[in-house]
This record gives sequence, structure tokens and C-alpha cells, in this order.
Amino acid sequence: MANVAFDYTNLVEVEGGIGDEELRDLRPNLEEAVNTFLENPPGFMRLPETTGLSGPSKSLAEEVRASGATDFVHIGIGGSALGPIALHRALNHPYYNLLADRGGPRLHFAENTDPATLAAILDVADMAGTWANVVTKSGSTAETMANFLVIRGALVDALGEDAYGEHVVFTTDPEEGYLVQIAGKESIRTLQIPPDVGGRFSVLTPVGLFPAAVTGLDVDALLRGAAECAGEVTERGADHPAVQGAAFHYLMDTARGRNVRVMMPYTDSLDRFASWFVQLWAESLGKEGKGSTPHGAVGTTDQHSQVQLYMQGPQDKIIEIIEVEEHPRDLTIPKAYDDLEGVGYLGGHTMAELLNVECDATRRALTEAGRPNATIKLGRVDEEHLGYLFQALEVQTAIAGSLYEVNAFDQPGVEAGKQITYSRMGRPGY
Ligand code: PA5
Repeated sequence: MANVAFDYTNLVEVEGGIGDEELRDLRPNLEEAVNTFLENPPGFMRLPETTGLSGPSKSLAEEVRASGATDFVHIGIGGSALGPIALHRALNHPYYNLLADRGGPRLHFAENTDPATLAAILDVADMAGTWANVVTKSGSTAETMANFLVIRGALVDALGEDAYGEHVVFTTDPEEGYLVQIAGKESIRTLQIPPDVGGRFSVLTPVGLFPAAVTGLDVDALLRGAAECAGEVTERGADHPAVQGAAFHYLMDTARGRNVRVMMPYTDSLDRFASWFVQLWAESLGKEGKGSTPHGAVGTTDQHSQVQLYMQGPQDKIIEIIEVEEHPRDLTIPKAYDDLEGVGYLGGHTMAELLNVECDATRRALTEAGRPNATIKLGRVDEEHLGYLFQALEVQTAIAGSLYEVNAFDQPGVEAGKQITYSRMGRPGY
């Protein structure tokens, strides 16, 4: 079982925190939001139970690994990239691509349209052994299509026009978009993103599962953690702490002007998880002049960068710490320089101990300074815990959408820029 705890005490007890009465007043709205959510659950709520989705991802991943692939290029952007990147960063070795015994191909992400990044992938990948996974729900995103066309060109050069498609997978909507048409013509294999699951809610579809399985991660455990969370939310409704988080964050923003939500994991492994969450919260809720601004930070690193601002800057933030109880590795700090009081005291402690002491110290200092903060405590960073947390924060975001009275599942604000790009790049009809 995943050991995940949400603690909002310091959003209540700090000076100017949320009062019981405000929570009571919001309770009917929260109950209505969660009841509506459970009566007609969004597509992402069904994912943990949909075993049909993980099977094809696992078997195709096995094929990639068995083929002796040297490189795997995941091409996608936004919700089609941030979840897979978060999983890779959290659960694979930080120097995965350099490990001799990693078991799977090197993994590269072609996300932005920055030519330097794409050219660098082409510099290091052995195209004869490269597989490309093109991930786009809509099947038409300009950035993803451009990256695909460049990688496709390199694959055709290495493998030939007839064989290149054997090294390509399209992860896309089953019916919509250009990839479906290309797949039909060029016999390219596809993995399906369910039509009712949007990009930023899709990490537990083949969008996240396939690349995770290619690198040997346990996708069943990921889904098990998510299923546990979904089951608990269904059972506890408005009493589930992830759901209550929607009320706390909504109230801190709308009733207290704390309109910046900083997610600050105390582990490097979750820095890209925070990036995933930033997109989820921003793109789901930033509508109609509403929504709080999510921001990613990492402890302890940002104690030496951002924490001055959090402690004494404008009173517009909530700091949400992610604390990990059991780190996957630890190192004892050797004893040395006992005669130097500012150095010798560290010897004999461990690095994980220092990290967690600094986490607690920052939380206490913030609280004493009257700075609202919350904590998500994770027993470990593993597939099961992450599956739980992805699901919990997706639920929280969807419920927050109801409290803000915005549609959490669309993104009309990104369309205008797309139209101008299409027109400037000469797409017919624009
Ligand atoms: O969350 C979303 O819906 C977006 O961020 C999309 O994931 C992003 O725009 C990429 O879209 P697509 O997967 O259609 O290429």
C-alpha cells in the first residue's frame, strides 16, 4: 500500500490561515463538486482499472527491449511529455543513459522545437538501433510533427523508406488526427490514448506507461497506486485529503490572496514531477481571470535561491513541501575536521538525515514567520507511491475546477498562438 499523507495544518494555524468557519461554508460546494465528479467520473478516473491499456504498452516495450534497441526517442510536448519525463526522472537512475547494465535503450525526449536539442539527440543516437515514439493526442501538434519529421528523415536514411516504420510507434487518439492516417498508410503500430483523457491527465495511459515500460519500470505498480487512490476517493468523497486540498488551495487563493502555489519536493528525483504538476494546475485552472499560479522549486537547492522570497517577500504564496520518509539511497558523511566547529559536526550523520532535517527546518521557519505551508509526505519514491500521487493531484485539480467554476479539461487560451503560427508557417487554410 502507498503511504501518502496530506497535511494542511499550517494553512490553518498560521496567522491569517483558513478558519473552520470558511471550510464549513465551502463544504456544500465541495460535496456537490465531488458528488458530480463521482457520478460522472472523468476519463482519467477509470485508467487504473483499464488493464487493456497497460497490456499493449508492456508487450510493445518488451519488443523494443528484445530488439536490442540502442536508443528510444520520445517525441511529444505538454501533457504528452511531462508525465513521462517526471516518471523517468523520479524512478530511473539519474545517469540512466550512461549505465552499461540499464537493460533498455537510452532514452531521449524531443519536446521543444529547439534545434540544438534535437541535433544533440541525433549526435548521440545510433539511428540504426533507434526507435521513435511519437506521442500526440490530437495527432497534429506542430512541435511534435516537426520533431517527428526530422527524426523520421534520420531513420529513413539509416533504415530505408520501407523499414523505418518498424522502428516507429504512434501513441495517439484511436480515430482522430494525422498520425492515424499516416499509420494506416505506412503500417506503423499505434498505442491508443482514450478519447476522453486529455494530455495533462494522460500519464497513466500509454503516454506514460509505454516509455516507462521500455526503461523497465513497473507499470503495474504505478497503476496499483493510482487504483488505491481512486478507490479511496470514491469511498471517502469530500473527506479525502486530496479532495480537501482543492478546498484549501481554492480558499487560500480566493479568500487570502495567496495566488502562488509553490510545489517544493525535498528530493531531486521529484523536480520534474513538480513541472508535471505545474502544467496540470496552470492549464486546467487558469481561465476567465481565475486560477492560482503554480511554481516548481526543489529543496534544499532552492533554500539558497527562492526561500528568502518565500520567507519575507509578498504574502501571496503557499509553499507545498513534498517530504520523502525513506530515500532510496543514503550515504554516511565521514568524520573529519573535528577541530573546525562549522564542519566537524556533520560527520557521522547521513545525507538523507540532513535533507530531511533541512526540510523540517524550512517548514518550521516558514510557519513561525506566518507563511502558509502544506506538506505531502511520501513513504518512498517508487512506482506505487507516484501512481497514487499522480491520481490524487489529478482528482484535486478536477475538483478545484468545479470550485473555481471553470472547465478543467480544456485549454482555449493556447489556440490563438497556434493559429498565428500555422498562418506564418504556411499551413493551408490559415
Ligand atoms: O494537456 C494538454 O491537453 C496539452 O498540454 C497537450 O498535451 C499538448 O498541447 C500536446 O497536445 P497533443 O498531445 O495533442 O500533441
